[in-house]
Amino acid sequence: TGCITLDPGYGNTGACKSAITFIDGEKGILQYRGYDIAELAQKSTFIETAYLLIYGELPTPAELQGFSDLLTENQMLHQDMLQHFDAFPPKAHPMSILSAMIHASSAYPSMKTYRKSLKEAFPIHAARLISQTRTIATCSYRKAAGLPPSYPKRDLKFTENFLHMMFSLPGEDYDLNPEVVRALDLIFLLHADHEQNCSTSTVRMVASSQANVFASASAGVCALWGPLHGGANQAVLEMLEQIHRDGDDGSQFLDQVKNKVGNRRLMGFGHRVYKSFDPRAVIIKEQCDKVLQQLNVSDPLLDIAKKLEEVALNDDYFISRKLYPNVDFYSGIIMRAIGIPMNMFTVLFAIGRMPGWVANYKEVMDDPESRISRPRQIYTGETLRSYKPITERA
Ligand code: CMC
Repeated sequence: TGCITLDPGYGNTGACKSAITFIDGEKGILQYRGYDIAELAQKSTFIETAYLLIYGELPTPAELQGFSDLLTENQMLHQDMLQHFDAFPPKAHPMSILSAMIHASSAYPSMKTYRKSLKEAFPIHAARLISQTRTIATCSYRKAAGLPPSYPKRDLKFTENFLHMMFSLPGEDYDLNPEVVRALDLIFLLHADHEQNCSTSTVRMVASSQANVFASASAGVCALWGPLHGGANQAVLEMLEQIHRDGDDGSQFLDQVKNKVGNRRLMGFGHRVYKSFDPRAVIIKEQCDKVLQQLNVSDPLLDIAKKLEEVALNDDYFISRKLYPNVDFYSGIIMRAIGIPMNMFTVLFAIGRMPGWVANYKEVMDDPESRISRPRQIYTGETLRSYKPITERA
């Protein structure tokens, strides 16, 4: 109709301008604020990178200290929020808990931001979101595991605290292994932003109506949950376990994928933008080998994953469609080796992605030319007809 152009799934529509993340999908390039992902992965930390994404520049020592202090000050949930956890059924998926709890945060304004505008309150809201996503994640895990809540320690860094809050037992501290801390910090960093993916565009869309950052971020969590997006890391492990249970080395499974049996997909493969290697996958694969070696874990699922990758990369079906491993293909194997249960994998993706969502929210909020997102459609329904009383309907 008229001049509306149909672009299913926004494959070719630029919906915004952004100065945060650059991707060249043909060349496999990913940069945050102009810094190559491989260099950040090697030299930076998740929290420093979060600052970079949100505020545009690498922090000075004082800025980093200020940001870390703000994260620490805002890491505890409002006491009354803890009662919400008891209302969820014990087997509730942690992603549903996460989206609900992040949304609930906006019902508990902090005294410090009570009278401030959204713009003035932004640094505190941003810190609350990044820090409390970790707190909510660990609380939901511990509740499902029947463990009492554990509190962050002021002297631990962000990722160390995540592991401490997840795994410490009553009266017993979790033994922090630097290699594990490094691997997890890297997973968070590599997930921190990825331009206009499904969840980030969702955040921007909600933000464009001038909704608050908690509402916008919780919408991002909902979008992330799907298996074609962030839920892929859980789906990869489920797929590898199934292949292992079937006694297959991966070849039967790949045949089914190629023949589209039950519309099966090789999870952790393919990307809308990358038509060559996903640079994050290369880094994660390397880290995966390191961590498993360090922890002395030999995982048959890693062998299956490697075999799948090797066969797929040499198979015409995958070559002709330019399907390569993406970030989720090996991340689950690392998380499993660390002892993180499968249903928490996408929650970890959300912890990592939060700075990207917050940075994109800020960009929308700061843009004087921002307009409410309001896509059009091509109408395919009935033309005008008249109402039939119910008694006349067959
Ligand atoms: N396994 C088998 N075939 C695939 C796969 C796959 N993983 N991905 C795409 N294809 C085929 C698809 O069937 C289609 O083939 P045909 O032309 O014969 O119909 C062709 O490749 C193009 O696929 P598409 O669905 O049009 O591609 P898309 O850009 O809409 O989808 C994707 C991108 C990531 C959703 C898709 O590749 C996929 O479903 N991958 C598996 C799920 C996954 O790993 N998702 C995580 C993405 S990375 C993390 C994140 O940012 O969320």
